[in-house]
Amino acid sequence: MEQSKRNVKLRLLEAFAESDQEFVSGQKISEVLGCSRTAVWKHIETLRKEGYEVEAVRRMGYRLIKKPEALSAAEIQSSLSTSFMGQAVHYEKSVPSTQKIAHQLAGEGASEGTIVIADEQTEGRGRLSRVWHSPVNTGIWMSCILKPKIPLSQTPQLTLLTAVAIVQAIEETTGILPSIKWPNDILINGKKAVGILTELQAEADSVHSVIIGMGINVNQEARDFPDALKTIATSLKLEAGNDISRTSLIQAILYNLEQLYTAYLSAGFHPVKLLWESYAVSLGREIKARTLQGTIYGKALGINDEGVLLLQTADGTVEKIYSADIEL
Ligand code: BTN
Repeated sequence: MEQSKRNVKLRLLEAFAESDQEFVSGQKISEVLGCSRTAVWKHIETLRKEGYEVEAVRRMGYRLIKKPEALSAAEIQSSLSTSFMGQAVHYEKSVPSTQKIAHQLAGEGASEGTIVIADEQTEGRGRLSRVWHSPVNTGIWMSCILKPKIPLSQTPQLTLLTAVAIVQAIEETTGILPSIKWPNDILINGKKAVGILTELQAEADSVHSVIIGMGINVNQEARDFPDALKTIATSLKLEAGNDISRTSLIQAILYNLEQLYTAYLSAGFHPVKLLWESYAVSLGREIKARTLQGTIYGKALGINDEGVLLLQTADGTVEKIYSADIEL
């Protein structure tokens, strides 16, 4: 959408958000937008065409009754309280994968905190070349571009940091208390609701961009999951028993991500590590780690300062696990 039209929509949505579901007079809107009353009416009509339900009553003004199911950049950015995370939003209705677009934008010099978000992915990617099921209008399929000045070896820490930010945002928005399974699965009642895929643009030991992909099952019903996922995956709606606003959750994730990431850049990984450990399910338990080199059984002791999982095997050796599938 062209910048000036997007700004008008953003300001209009902010005026409705501030009114807290009350009427906003045509006069007030024309002042906020700096346009005539006739132009206000035209902007309201544009909103209606995009799926917003707006009530108009003579002498009272306009009241926002219902927002469309689809996401929008303006909606995400209205009442977003961050300074850089999500301040540039690239939204598409349907894409093969938001990761692909984020890689492209990062290569073209997109600013730190730029997010790519879609209502549907037709070729969503998971870890280990798996498919990430991303049906339309139900979940959050989002990739975020970060440009930290950190060594390559520390980039796995950002996956753990993102997991903490998402858990905090889910807690705040829904009241659900999820847990984290190393390195990047967020579980609710033992089923996966969120996956995180971290990819890099780097050379030798210099990191250009880190692309963090987040797949969050938000409003799926049980029937929306393919058979193979029905017993192992869940959605926030299934766990909370009610619809969850994807926009509010995105805003909370961006806020928490910015807070944690900024603290991490100045104070290091240790505070994030403590938070991560407080949410982790696997610590202190016997687990099975399937790595590319083979399967290792042992007790999960914790993570080290690089974010690597420490596994104590039966003979007392402590193995460092850099990448694996974990079974509890
Ligand atoms: C996992 O396997 O657990 C990670 C899943 C990551 C999925 C997200 S959805 C947004 C972004 N785009 C993708 O294609 N994948 C990630």
